[in-house]
Amino acid sequence: MELTREKDIDPSPLEGRKVAVLGFGNQGKAQALNLKDSGIEIVVGLRGSSLNRAVAQELGLKVADLADATASADVVMMLSPDEILGDLYREVEPHLQQGAALGFSHGLAVHFGLVAPRDDLDVFLIAPKGPGTALRSLYKAGKGMIALWAVAQDRTGSARAIALAYGRAIGCARAGLIASSFEEEAVADLFNENAVVWGGVPELLRAGFETLVEAGISPEIAYMECVGELKLIAELIDARGIAGMREAISNTAEFGAMLGGPAIIGPEVRQRMKTVLQSVRSGEFARALRAEAQGDYPKLKAARKAARSQPMEDVFARLDSMTRD
Ligand SMILES: NC(=O)c1ccc[n+]([C@@H]2O[C@H](COP(=O)([O-])OP(=O)(O)OC[C@H]3O[C@@H](n4cnc5c(N)ncnc54)[C@H](OP(=O)(O)O)[C@@H]3O)[C@@H](O)[C@H]2O)c1
Repeated sequence: MELTREKDIDPSPLEGRKVAVLGFGNQGKAQALNLKDSGIEIVVGLRGSSLNRAVAQELGLKVADLADATASADVVMMLSPDEILGDLYREVEPHLQQGAALGFSHGLAVHFGLVAPRDDLDVFLIAPKGPGTALRSLYKAGKGMIALWAVAQDRTGSARAIALAYGRAIGCARAGLIASSFEEEAVADLFNENAVVWGGVPELLRAGFETLVEAGISPEIAYMECVGELKLIAELIDARGIAGMREAISNTAEFGAMLGGPAIIGPEVRQRMKTVLQSVRSGEFARALRAEAQGDYPKLKAARKAARSQPMEDVFARLDSMTRD
């Protein structure tokens, strides 16, 4: 694995150049503010109707329409939802300068063909491995969030240098920039979201909670056991790795985990993970995401509503109001 740190990165490829950040949501806001604080000249590109215009301006950022921001920039960062990046790219492509650099924070749109970048452009990826809020708070604390980087097109010979300088300017190189590819980043990230931390874990927590409640355990105790301890194990794994986490818990917990873990995550779960991986790799997931956006997100809206009406959400609200300072 090739990991590059701040001290080994030349910041000059961004000096005297202008960056347009298209989008001011989770990543757009954090990256724009980090770039500004790193002394980079930036403009935030937004739709005319955007309510984020006022927010960005209040934070001291220059704001322009998508076309004008794009036309004025040497580096254009595509920080809007992945599933609409194809439409956004088609809108701004005529305004991109010859030989400009086009950046992404996820490999999906380019790898799965939603965006087919013009031939004269440099195309790079800086994918911070965490949410924008943490990217910003780490930067302000003098730290950074690890990120993957890659180059899909190098037409000027500077794509690599620009990608690394960009990763440095948003603070990620303080933690480290890991060399990857658009394909590897997209597949690994989507697989994790579908099957592991964001898809698998919440379903495991819910199944555990419901099993205990159905067996007569009080919902509050079931919630505290099955959901409330997640933060503790996450912190232990983060600090010590999985083996170190095991050594930090009681023999009882460790023995139970040794017997129960493989019994729950057996061969059939691993087989289903392979099926999910196949759906990611084949582009089936990316196509479904695109169709979801074209239909105005019917499945996502229904899933959000269903999640809110789960009994465990009431338990969370009760426990939260009782235990918060
Ligand atoms: N969420 C994260 O923290 C995170 C972490 C790592 C990587 N990423 C990657 O970062 C990129 C941005 O993700 P995000 O979560 O930051 O997105 P997001 O918060 O959903 O982006 C919101 C912004 O996109 C703009 N937007 C939405 N639809 C648009 C359209 N049709 N045309 C033009 N602008 C539109 C919104 O405009 P308005 O202001 O007009 O509403 C808003 O400014 C994605 O590639 C994602 O995979 C995200």
